[in-house]
Amino acid sequence: MFKLKEDRDYVALEKKYVFGTWRYEYTWKPLLIEEGKGCYFKDFKGKRYLDFSSQLMCSNLGHRSPKVLEALSEQANKLCYAAPSFATKPAAKLGEKLADITPGDLQKSFFSLGGAEANEAAIKIARLYTGKTKLISRYRSYHGATSGAIALTGDPRTHYAIGMPGIVRAPDCYCYRCPLGKEYPGCGISCVEYIDEIIRMEGEQSVAGVVVEPIVGSNGILVPPDEYMPRLREICNERDVLLIADEVMTGFGRTGKWFCMEHWDVVPDLMSMAKGLTGAFIPLGATIARKKIAKFFDQEGNLFCHGHTYAMHPLCCAVALAAIQEYIDKNLIENASKMGAVLGKRLNELKEDHASVGDVRGKGLFWGVELVKNRKTKEPFVTRREKFQPNTLKKISVAAMERDVYIVNVINTLIIAPPLIVKEEQIDKGIQVLDKAIEIADKECK
Ligand SMILES: Cc1ncc(COP(=O)(O)O)c(C=O)c1O
Repeated sequence: MFKLKEDRDYVALEKKYVFGTWRYEYTWKPLLIEEGKGCYFKDFKGKRYLDFSSQLMCSNLGHRSPKVLEALSEQANKLCYAAPSFATKPAAKLGEKLADITPGDLQKSFFSLGGAEANEAAIKIARLYTGKTKLISRYRSYHGATSGAIALTGDPRTHYAIGMPGIVRAPDCYCYRCPLGKEYPGCGISCVEYIDEIIRMEGEQSVAGVVVEPIVGSNGILVPPDEYMPRLREICNERDVLLIADEVMTGFGRTGKWFCMEHWDVVPDLMSMAKGLTGAFIPLGATIARKKIAKFFDQEGNLFCHGHTYAMHPLCCAVALAAIQEYIDKNLIENASKMGAVLGKRLNELKEDHASVGDVRGKGLFWGVELVKNRKTKEPFVTRREKFQPNTLKKISVAAMERDVYIVNVINTLIIAPPLIVKEEQIDKGIQVLDKAIEIADKECK
């Protein structure tokens, strides 16, 4: 049998044989990592790093969980795979559990393998249920890399993709740089009111749904004012359009509630999830629909024409059930809220000490630090066009890694989102390192 030799250069090997994600292959200089536990991961030399962004804002339970591992092994010893035409206990139980923990009358789920697939299912369900085709999404958004999901996406990754027709873009809810040139609260939240105008101009009879990240994630942690989501719910009700919440990043306690939409008591018609659903230990996506939509597909003649070989995968469903139990047993939603308040306070203090910190925004353990060269002009360090180029924010992430802390950067914002198990002393360590690393940007301020 072919055996990899332990002394091989695995970085070179991966670089040669494995494509990456969203990168110029020739610039990829990764760290080889081998182990993870709690809020930390280790590289191949045994050096330990504090994970201050939960990898891709997904390792909500930290990097190891004996309980989840036990559930995985128990299920693997019974049944590893079943065609989705069979029923399995893990899928049935997970469906019931999600109906229980999601808001309102969200009831029936479809299980896929990740966020993009969860959104593909949402697109299809919305179109089948309404009989309409157009979908509204916003520019600063990311919904996944597959055709439908990337078409919904409005961020710079869309510039390299051919999506699908039928997507209409709405203005962002980005108070720090309002696309309508207004200021909250005098703006009357024109950005959401304009969605009403879009629906009317596109034709209510042709718009199936509005898709939003409740707090925009990888486009800068954009938190809407409290009136935004309730008003969007009203508009969707009035115009008979579905409200679709992409909670792939914001779900499972990340913002201090099970689901972000709960901050505003808003129940979407469809909700997509992934990432924290399994604590990212194993892939799984879910799309949950309200009772009225479930009922529609229960009627004779209404075909649910969607599926994947790995839909309702029993191993993944069993892991998700165990992960959800971990959130409950360890009070992690509460911890996210409590530690989130500490993190938010510390980040706002950083703003006072650093000229380059333009804006600090977030909820729970989901925070963004946006950097500017000048606070008055708000000139960014990195523009959308420069997302994939070497830039100051990438330098800051590298400097933080040199001090043993992993921090994700996206365009012009650093994302601070530690695992939900984080403790105050770990927040302090992360902030200390960030404090030092941001000096790189301070030096470039005008
Ligand atoms: C809000 C949101 N939706 C969808 C996705 C896509 O998820 P996946 O990468 O699992 O396909 C992401 C990924 O980061 C996301 O942040």
